Amino acid sequence: MTSPFNFTPESYRIKTIEKIELKPRAYREKRIGEVGYNVFMLDIDDIFIDLLTDSGTSAMSDEQWAAMLTTKQAYAGSNSYRLLDRAVKEIFGFEHFVPTHQGRAAEHILFSTIITKEGQYVPNNTHFDTTEANVMYKKGIPMNLPVEEAYQPGKVSDFKGNMDTNKLENFINEKGPENIPVVMLTITNNTVGGQPVSMKNIRKVSEIAHDHKIPMFLDACRFAENAFFIKEREPGYRDKTIREIVKEEFSYADGCTFSGKKEALTNIGGMLCTRDKELYEKFRNLLVVIEGFPTYGGMACRELAAMAVGLHESTDYDYQKARHAQIEFLADSLDKQGVPIVKPAGGHAVYVDGKEFLPHLTPDKFPAQSLTAQLYIESGIRAVELGNSCFGKTGDDGNFIPAKLDLMRLAIPRRRYTISHLAYVADSVVELYEQRDQITGLKRVYAPKLLGHFLSRFEPIPKNI
Ligand SMILES: Cc1ncc(COP(=O)(O)O)c(C=O)c1O
Repeated sequence: MTSPFNFTPESYRIKTIEKIELKPRAYREKRIGEVGYNVFMLDIDDIFIDLLTDSGTSAMSDEQWAAMLTTKQAYAGSNSYRLLDRAVKEIFGFEHFVPTHQGRAAEHILFSTIITKEGQYVPNNTHFDTTEANVMYKKGIPMNLPVEEAYQPGKVSDFKGNMDTNKLENFINEKGPENIPVVMLTITNNTVGGQPVSMKNIRKVSEIAHDHKIPMFLDACRFAENAFFIKEREPGYRDKTIREIVKEEFSYADGCTFSGKKEALTNIGGMLCTRDKELYEKFRNLLVVIEGFPTYGGMACRELAAMAVGLHESTDYDYQKARHAQIEFLADSLDKQGVPIVKPAGGHAVYVDGKEFLPHLTPDKFPAQSLTAQLYIESGIRAVELGNSCFGKTGDDGNFIPAKLDLMRLAIPRRRYTISHLAYVADSVVELYEQRDQITGLKRVYAPKLLGHFLSRFEPIPKNI
C-alpha cells in the first residue's frame, strides 16, 4: 500500500500545550485597521497562528527547563556561564565570548568597537535589518554583495545565500582594506529567503578577507540550519555530522554575532564570540557598561543555561531533519497550487513573492505588506513583510526606492506547530491567491527613520485608485 502522506515525523512529542483561538473575521478586520495595518502592533490573543518570526518563539525542551531550574542565580561567577562557555568551545570552537541579551546587542558591541571612523564599509552577503541599522548607527556604510541569483525568487539553486566573491574582491580593492574593519557573512541569509551559504563560499570569503588582513565574522543566527543544508546539498559533506559541519563553518571565522533566540532554541539571549583576546577585552569592557557583568551579560543566569542546552539540541540531526520537513511541506503545498514563493524553501521560513502574487500593485502600494494584512484578516495568521516597508529607502530627492525583493515571510517557530497547523496555513494562502485581484494596496502614513517596519502605519487605498 502506498501512503497518501509522506511525512518525516516531528522528533519530539507534546508535554505542555497552550490554547489558541481563531477570532471572528469582523474582529480581525477591525483590529488590523486599529493598528495601522502593521501586524507587529497586534496582540498575541488577536492571532491564531503566529508566523511573525522564528526568533524567540521556540518551544523549549524539558531538559532546557530543567537546566533553568537547577542553575544558580549569581551576579558573578554563575555556573550557567560555565555551561555556556563549554558549549561555545565545544560547538563553535571560539575561545572567548560575551553573553548579550539578544543578537542586536552583540552587533552593537561589535560595530561600536571595530568601526573607528565615519564612512568605513561593512560588506555582508546581505545584512539583516538590525545588522544594517547597527552599522549605520556607528556611521558605517553597510554593503550587500549577494550572488545575483539571490534576487531571482523563482530560480532553484542550492546556495542562493552565498556572497559574490568576485564582487567582494573588487569591493575591497576599490575601497581599500584599511576602510573595511570587518567582512560579515550571514548564515543562513535571512533577507533573501533564509537561503544557505555553502562551505566553499564561507571558506572563500574567509580567504579573501584574510588575504587583505581583514577579520571575517559570521552572523551565525542559523548556523545549524545552514549546516543541515550543507550536509544535504554540498558534495563531500553527506557523511559528516551536523556537529562536524558546524565546527568547520566556524573554523573559517574570526568571530561571530549570534542571536540565541533562533538556534539556541531559547526565548531570549545572544552572544558575541571572538578568537582575539584583545578584542574580547574591548567587547567585555563595553558589555559591562551596556549589558552587564560578563558572566551574565544581558540575561538572567537561567537563560544562559537554556542556551547551553539548546545549542546541543539544535545540532541534533533528527531535529533538523524534522524541522526542514515541516518547511518543505508548507513550501510544496503552496508551490503545487501555483503560489509564487522563493525557491527552494529556506531554512526557517517560506517566503511568498509579493511582487508576483499582486502584480497589479506598484511597489509604493506595498504589495507584500498588503498581502500580510489580508492574510491576517482572512485567516488569523500573522506573517511578516520583508520587502518595501522593511528595506525600502527614501532617496535624497525624497522619492521612494523600493527594496530588491518584496516578500511576505511565513516564519516557522521551532518545535511549536504541527503539520496540521501548517496545512491550515497552506490552505489559507492558496485561498487568498485565488482571490488575489481583490486585494488592494496600502499607503504608508508613518515610518521612523531606522527599522521603519516595526513601527510604521498604513492606510488602505480604496479600490480603483
Ligand atoms: C540574520 C539575523 N541577524 C541578526 C538578527 C538579530 O537578532 P535579535 O533579534 O536577537 O536581536 C536576526 C533576527 O532575526 C537575524 O535574522
